[in-house]
Amino acid sequence: MRTLTGITPSGTLHIGNYFGAMRPAIEAQAQGDCYYFIADYHSMTSVTDPEERLAHTRGIAIDWLACGLDPRRSVFWRQSDVPEVCELTWLIGSLTPMGLLERAHSYKDKTAKGISPNFGLFAYPVLMAADILLYDTHAVPVGQDQKQHLEMTRDIAIKYNQTYGETFVVPEPVIRGDVAVVPGLDGQKMSKSYGNTLEIFGEEKALRKKVMSIVMDSRTPAEPKPDADRNLCIQLLKLLAPSDVAADLESRLRAGGLGYGDLKRALFEHYWAFFARARARRAELLANPDYVDQVLREGAERARDVARPVIRRARKAAGLE
Ligand code: ADP
Ligand code: TRP
Repeated sequence: MRTLTGITPSGTLHIGNYFGAMRPAIEAQAQGDCYYFIADYHSMTSVTDPEERLAHTRGIAIDWLACGLDPRRSVFWRQSDVPEVCELTWLIGSLTPMGLLERAHSYKDKTAKGISPNFGLFAYPVLMAADILLYDTHAVPVGQDQKQHLEMTRDIAIKYNQTYGETFVVPEPVIRGDVAVVPGLDGQKMSKSYGNTLEIFGEEKALRKKVMSIVMDSRTPAEPKPDADRNLCIQLLKLLAPSDVAADLESRLRAGGLGYGDLKRALFEHYWAFFARARARRAELLANPDYVDQVLREGAERARDVARPVIRRARKAAGLE
């Protein structure tokens, strides 16, 4: 069974991304046959500065490798290094009804926000379907927001198969309903669009300040806090600290006697320790850009080896050769 997912190179990664998307992807490597790519073609509808695109693409690659993406176990590449995906976009796009694309939430949301629509934005779900179908993918782990794109991919694959004969594997979405939403520093869902993130990587002093500035209520340290399980720091500690440590801090908070300053200091220390290995690995990768280029180059070759027979199959089925 082949698992594939794409990572859009936008912004700095935060611990919500880590627990919601990166850690499950990294753990899935134990089952093998994982295909992960950096969706730089997809970034073209939002980023128009070439240097910025290259920097984001490289930065995201380094961060994923630092967090445990293992290129010996997974195929990891940059989307645009396999340009066959653009050809497939045309083949399947020619069978994709306008009505299907007009119903896409992501397109409606973006135009409602005032982003001026262009072909790329409208065709985004077709490119995403091509990403998936080009690699004979069975399972696609995505967040709930991508569910509709997966339904479109299935519709498009089925339509191609009906029109030109069996060509594509019809993929299944894997929606992580069980993964708790990681709360941000203001208690809402952590998201780069809400400005409430705790980054995976960053400068120690600034991050310590972020953690120490988390707003708590005005109860004194001595007061017992029966709602300790709903405390934001405790919720984050449950992700970042060993479970006995988080449980001990929670019971001390509940009983009274633990102040919020000490609680935030403990949160920072565990957060900082949690990513210590990844940070060290990242420093090595930053010092070794050739290695990162080589990983992506070799990944692209392996990805292309899978893509070539599939695009041929699709071309032949449609009478293009
Ligand atoms: P953001 O909301 O910061 O823009 P993205 O939409 O780029 O994040 O999300 C990338 C991945 O990280 C998705 O798979 C998404 O489900 C996951 N993710 C983002 N924020 C969280 C969160 N707070 N908790 C759990 N998973 C998250
Ligand atoms: N659209 C996805 C997102 O914004 C990223 C993505 C691009 C993707 N192509 C994909 C995800 C193919 C899964 C499969 O998060």
